[in-house]
Amino acid sequence: MSSGAAAGPIFAEGEDCRAAWREATAGYDEPDAHLEILGKPVMERWETPYMHSLATVAASKGGRVLEVGFGMAIAASKVQELGIEEHWIIECNEGVFRRLEQWAKAQPHKGHAFRLLRPGGVLTYCNLTSWGELLKTRYSDIEKMFEETQVGPLLEAGFRRENISTRVMELQPPRECRYYSHPRMITPTVLKH
Ligand SMILES: C[S@@+](CC[C@H](N)C(=O)[O-])C[C@H]1O[C@@H](n2cnc3c(N)ncnc32)[C@H](O)[C@@H]1O
Repeated sequence: MSSGAAAGPIFAEGEDCRAAWREATAGYDEPDAHLEILGKPVMERWETPYMHSLATVAASKGGRVLEVGFGMAIAASKVQELGIEEHWIIECNEGVFRRLEQWAKAQPHKGHAFRLLRPGGVLTYCNLTSWGELLKTRYSDIEKMFEETQVGPLLEAGFRRENISTRVMELQPPRECRYYSHPRMITPTVLKH
């Protein structure tokens, strides 16, 4: 694992990892507390309460849950504990996908089919690397950050303002975390009308 928040920017200006990401080694460390790919910090165990908050929103309508990005299975394992019918996961890294296949064998909810979000369906998501950068450089208020950088694209995607809400939680990242240092996290709930 690389070390420390002082190691410089995670992505160089214009750096594009897409071509190499798929086959790059999934670097899970020994205590299974960190995942790195191409030397980038991808997921860390300290995020567990936040991932569980997102998973709880994602599973709040029951039915089918689509999850993009398996990482360390923290959100996925929470989704599996909740009252859902199907759980679909998209993961683009081969090593992470192999871990997904092993994990899936032991889970109670299996996948069958996928359709787009239905009326009444719920979307939740995060992008801690870009939100962390915004909170370091442009915002001190996480709700203002969400309002000014996330709501516009959600409206453009067709969601209605009255169907977008958020919950803020306190969660202090460890000092060594390279992608997030703000002491608060935000869980969006975005309902399809
Ligand atoms: C932050 S981790 C997800 C953490 C996960 N929610 C958890 O609780 O452990 C992001 C994951 O998304 C995957 N990923 C990134 N971009 C993707 C894409 N466009 N399609 C599918 N998976 C993607 C990465 O390979 C990585 O495994």
